[in-house]
Amino acid sequence: MQQSFHPRHFALVPAAGSGSRMGAGLPKQYLPLLGQPLIRHALATLCATPEIDQVFVVLSVDDSHWARHDWSEMSPKLVPLFCGGPTRADSVLAGLRAIAHDVAATDWVLVHDAARPCLASWHVERLIRELGHDDCGGILALPMADTLKRADEQRRIVETVARDRLWRAQTPQMFRYVVLRRALESAHGVTDEASAIEAAGLRPRLIEGDTTNLKVTWPLDLHLAEWILLHREGVVQ
Ligand code: C5P
Repeated sequence: MQQSFHPRHFALVPAAGSGSRMGAGLPKQYLPLLGQPLIRHALATLCATPEIDQVFVVLSVDDSHWARHDWSEMSPKLVPLFCGGPTRADSVLAGLRAIAHDVAATDWVLVHDAARPCLASWHVERLIRELGHDDCGGILALPMADTLKRADEQRRIVETVARDRLWRAQTPQMFRYVVLRRALESAHGVTDEASAIEAAGLRPRLIEGDTTNLKVTWPLDLHLAEWILLHREGVVQ
């Protein structure tokens, strides 16, 4: 694998989950949102961002939904990879392995959840601008606004967790290809890329995002996402 003096930026979108918490018959990434499959919104933003060279989408091996939609508007940047694994981290790692010949070791990879459809170009551009000269890389995140409670099995509060210096991790999460790949190859049970990087002894930076970049998890989130996309123009950046 070559080194690159002018590192490029690639997006990798894990979209091989089943989205069982939504309780819908369709995987979450294909649920209709403003008349389009949910995943299409974030892919459109990533493909339209000039700094991003290519957008790789990791689908499950037996995905039968992708081919039912027309993606031609977004090509040639968009590349589907049918190599997803049993967990999100497995899917990301499989995607990284599949693109090994397309990227240089020091190129940046921006991993973005298919389930965050309200990604805006200013989110991506802020991340790239702030981390361009960073040794480690980092993630979009939000400082905690709520007081946090830890519960027991009966849902009674056993502890109040101080919220100062606590952040909610979002995506994209941006790291150098080779660093991310090695970190994921050694990490187990991580739920985001930053955890793998932390486990490797590095300290990713937190770049403040905003609440519009929500993750669609529960049915109500679909309505919130729809409202955000419709009212996006009014959102202060
Ligand atoms: O289920 P959750 O919302 O945490 O999934 C986050 C992202 O990871 C989604 O875009 C989902 O499609 C993806 N994922 C994946 N492979 C899995 C599980 C989740 O690509 N096995």
